[in-house]
Amino acid sequence: MGYIDELISRAKADKKRIVLPEPMDKRTFEAAEKILKQDIADLIIIGTPEEIETYGSGYDLTGATIVDPFNDPNKQKYIDKFVELRGAKGVTPESAKEQMEQDYMYYACLMCKCGDADGAVSGACHSTGNTIRPALQLLKTKPGISGVSGFFIMEVPDCELGENGLFVFADCAVNPDNDADKMAETAGLSAESFEAFIGKKAKVALLSFSTKGSAKHDRVTMVQEAAEKAKEKYPQFEIDGELQLDAALVAEVGELKAPDSPVAGHANTLVFPDLESGNIGYKLVQRLAKANAYGPVLQGLSMPVNDLSRGCYADDIVGTVAMTAIQAQMADK
Ligand code: ACO
Repeated sequence: MGYIDELISRAKADKKRIVLPEPMDKRTFEAAEKILKQDIADLIIIGTPEEIETYGSGYDLTGATIVDPFNDPNKQKYIDKFVELRGAKGVTPESAKEQMEQDYMYYACLMCKCGDADGAVSGACHSTGNTIRPALQLLKTKPGISGVSGFFIMEVPDCELGENGLFVFADCAVNPDNDADKMAETAGLSAESFEAFIGKKAKVALLSFSTKGSAKHDRVTMVQEAAEKAKEKYPQFEIDGELQLDAALVAEVGELKAPDSPVAGHANTLVFPDLESGNIGYKLVQRLAKANAYGPVLQGLSMPVNDLSRGCYADDIVGTVAMTAIQAQMADK
């Protein structure tokens, strides 16, 4: 069984209500048909009858709940919630209604916030920023968490490194401005994500161009501080840094460069020092090693909302819906 099949069977075991707010794209409906046929989630699709007819005709949507954002008996409840949450930021009933009608991701997040959905997946035709901003504004972080970050599960074929080729890479999607506190929190969240999704013990490497002081620079110091903070804050996980990528992954190099490290040579959770290296790093592995990249999955949000790449295929939407449903299951525990 491939990793994606495992995810799908976990999602099916306790079905969750997942909302898809992109009716202006055929891939939404192609994915919806597959999700409904395999019984992966209870789907809610936001869209007007015209949008559903234009982009969804020919697809079997039996079992999906269609919510027309212009004719929804629950709409006033969502407007009221929007104003309650964002009134202090200048949101009025009129502007709330307008924003929900113009950008269905706001509608989807309000459905989640009001308990009418368990999670949302969007981004096939919206940028990452526009997909996650409504979630950051309306759903906010989990208690005790200060920032959201985004990880990928990387499945590298014919690879014995990591957990037999499975890794978590983070932050690959969210924070353009990183610092030691954010990197330390990303390390803790990524360890939790690794253990929840892969079911094995996380070994977390905070990556740098230096291993244990081999280079001196402010950027190295930032990663060293992040590693110290992460070890102190998350003693339940094996975390170490700063480590170069080869020292993190390859046993002989780890032994040579960081012989006392509990992680070096065996890392399965890679925390990048900035968004450039994280985003470029996952795409390098995806393209050059022909790895499957599942994500970006957001970690740290109070409810599961996930982003898609605009180049995604319908099967990627199916996978992301399954991962979102699994996050919703975990939130129940
Ligand atoms: N965690 C939690 N909350 C956050 C975070 C975060 N990491 N970042 C912003 N917020 C909150 C802010 O506190 C603010 O809340 P408030 O309005 O209640 O005060 C709200 O989100 C909006 O914050 P802004 O600073 O105005 O954020 P902005 O909209 O400019 O940007 C965003 C936030 C969208 C995450 C931005 O940082 C961004 O675009 N990041 C990069 C996304 C990207 O392009 N990734 C690469 C592509 S993804 C891929 O290739 C798979």
